[in-house]
Amino acid sequence: MNILLLGSGGRESALAWKISQSELCDKLFIAPGNGGTGAYGTNVALSPLDFEAVEAFVGANGIDMVVVGNEDPLVAGIYDYFAGKRPGLLVVGPSKAGAQLEGSKDFAKRFMTAHGIPTARFRSFTQETAEEGCRFLEELKPPYVLKADGLAAGKGVLIIDSLDEAKKALREMLGGMFGKSSATVVIEEFLKGIECSVFVLTDGNGGYRVLPVAKDYKRIGEGDTGLNTGGMGAISPVPFADETFMRKVTERIIEPTVKGLAEEGIIYRGFIFLGLINVEGEPMVIEYNVRMGDPETEAVMLRVDSDLVQLMKAAAEGDLGDLPLRHNPATAATVMIVSGGYPGSYPKGKVITGLDKVTDSILFHAGTKKLDDGTVVTSGGRVIAVSSLGKDIADAVGRSFKSVDLVDFEGKYFRRDIGRDLMNLK
Ligand code: AMP
Ligand code: GLY
Repeated sequence: MNILLLGSGGRESALAWKISQSELCDKLFIAPGNGGTGAYGTNVALSPLDFEAVEAFVGANGIDMVVVGNEDPLVAGIYDYFAGKRPGLLVVGPSKAGAQLEGSKDFAKRFMTAHGIPTARFRSFTQETAEEGCRFLEELKPPYVLKADGLAAGKGVLIIDSLDEAKKALREMLGGMFGKSSATVVIEEFLKGIECSVFVLTDGNGGYRVLPVAKDYKRIGEGDTGLNTGGMGAISPVPFADETFMRKVTERIIEPTVKGLAEEGIIYRGFIFLGLINVEGEPMVIEYNVRMGDPETEAVMLRVDSDLVQLMKAAAEGDLGDLPLRHNPATAATVMIVSGGYPGSYPKGKVITGLDKVTDSILFHAGTKKLDDGTVVTSGGRVIAVSSLGKDIADAVGRSFKSVDLVDFEGKYFRRDIGRDLMNLK
């Protein structure tokens, strides 16, 4: 079959790498792709948000399945667009209604409440109810968690220690700090624990498969300090997400989520990303995303031993049947190399050297561009996700760090502590 993958990050590189290995895949196109995805298929200069252009490409190239990598097209309704225009086309991803699990935190919280899914106590507020919001903050203990309802490129969550600052932030958010995204603000109880990312592929008819669990490292600095980023690394599996924990996740979170979507008549044939927190052994949902995680995918794909195309096709057709999704028991470690200055401003166009010296890891390109003469240059904050398999965390990260040392560009930065917190945790 011919497949079109939408997106341009490290996640899409890892998906493209995996898809290209499938016997079911004839041609793979990546739109727009990056400086590395050309190794797995053909890059196409298309914006995933330009649905008409995507549809024209689908028609002209005999595309059988569209895999949507990032949330924006899903929240904008790409599933519904194609369901109307091209009913035969397989689309991996939720309908617009399903994408609200990520597109609106208020919707997600209400969904969880309605289906008895464990999550932090919350209330939502708008300009009109700002004073009530301040009173709700007074009822909570610090730190205070304030979330813009809509998509805010991962920046819409504020965690604030002082009550006065939290009230001020609430007013500023409602006043447009994140534009329309913060016209509604969710205030919730702070949960203390360690986070992990659980990925589920569902066929929308009660069938689902759980992918390998991963943990990502969001802060720019070692020891989880400094600003939040899109993700500085990932480890899979996660030692604390053992059988007992995952049984609770399945019973209390995955099954009620899949059932809840069906009960509400929401079409959802794609990946569900559960951002979980382990509160003294009890899993709770911090957030839903409606796509795979980045950089988690760059670790998780190394551990998927089954044909992902076959699984995605079956999910998009609405019946996963008894297809297995096998997990490789080895450990995967991803270390993200970023541009100096990220997540603030950073230069672009820096020549990357040493890519061909790496043999022990897979280099999933993210913010890179390949020039006509073959030179690869930086074009984003997160530049390359370096992923390796090993017998344990120390072995896998050790391999990734050795590979990271071979790759260079001016301003290169990465965290040397990826996985360290998990090495003595069980
Ligand atoms: P979100 O965009 O909802 O994933 O939030 C971003 C980050 O803020 C999460 O990954 C958590 O680290 C943190 N966070 C969000 N909600 C809470 C909460 N209720 N308690 C503690 N930390 C939270
Ligand atoms: N790694 C977190 C995310 O993809 O949102």
